[in-house]
Amino acid sequence: MSGPDQAEFWNSRFSEDGFAYGERASRLLMAFSDLFRPGQKALVPASGEGRDAVFLARLGLDVTAVDMSASGLSKTEDLAASHGVFVTCIEADLSSWDWPEGRFDHAAIMFAHMPPDFRPAFHARLLGALKTGGHLFVEGFTKGQSQYQESHQSGGPPNPDLLYDPTDIKADFAGGEPVSFWTGIETLSEGPYHSGPAALLRAVFRKTESK
Ligand SMILES: C[S@@+](CC[C@H](N)C(=O)[O-])C[C@H]1O[C@@H](n2cnc3c(N)ncnc32)[C@H](O)[C@@H]1O
Repeated sequence: MSGPDQAEFWNSRFSEDGFAYGERASRLLMAFSDLFRPGQKALVPASGEGRDAVFLARLGLDVTAVDMSASGLSKTEDLAASHGVFVTCIEADLSSWDWPEGRFDHAAIMFAHMPPDFRPAFHARLLGALKTGGHLFVEGFTKGQSQYQESHQSGGPPNPDLLYDPTDIKADFAGGEPVSFWTGIETLSEGPYHSGPAALLRAVFRKTESK
């Protein structure tokens, strides 16, 4: 799928009633919520309908959400308003976005599976957007998810090349020290498109050098 086709796909999904991946934040962000302080700056690329961006804004963070889907960003604005908070929403293709450098205390990519010819550059930009000492949160499906897609339709990109190989993720974020790194099977209950047993990776890195 090319850029415009992809945006159309996500706009169509996010135009459905309700929230494709639920309104609750990802379990990873909830588990590490003691790292978040009011006033800190957070970046949420590929933010979808805004569940994680709004979660961070409700904790008092200054949050920027970036996504190619106008429908997802519109839902993010509405979800934020319903909780009396604000999220800065930017509609952009992350492969051509003018990424800020050294600006954020936290960055979170949840199920932001990019093609192999863009993934390493995407992850490098992400690390570059963090301040030294900033935290990066990554959650997504591992290669083993192909099996659960067949048996349970529990989510993730149909193209297996987009599923995470833990070795790639460690290599991409070698400019950060791992704070937590987990892969395993867990039953998701995050809206209609993330539901059932799934092969997952959840990781947190702390940026240790200026990259
Ligand atoms: C599976 S959804 C995950 C949404 C959200 N992170 C969540 O977990 O609820 C993937 C998201 O990535 C966005 N996306 C994919 N490729 C993108 C790109 N190149 N630029 C901007 N957004 C992109 C899609 O629009 C979609 O919102």
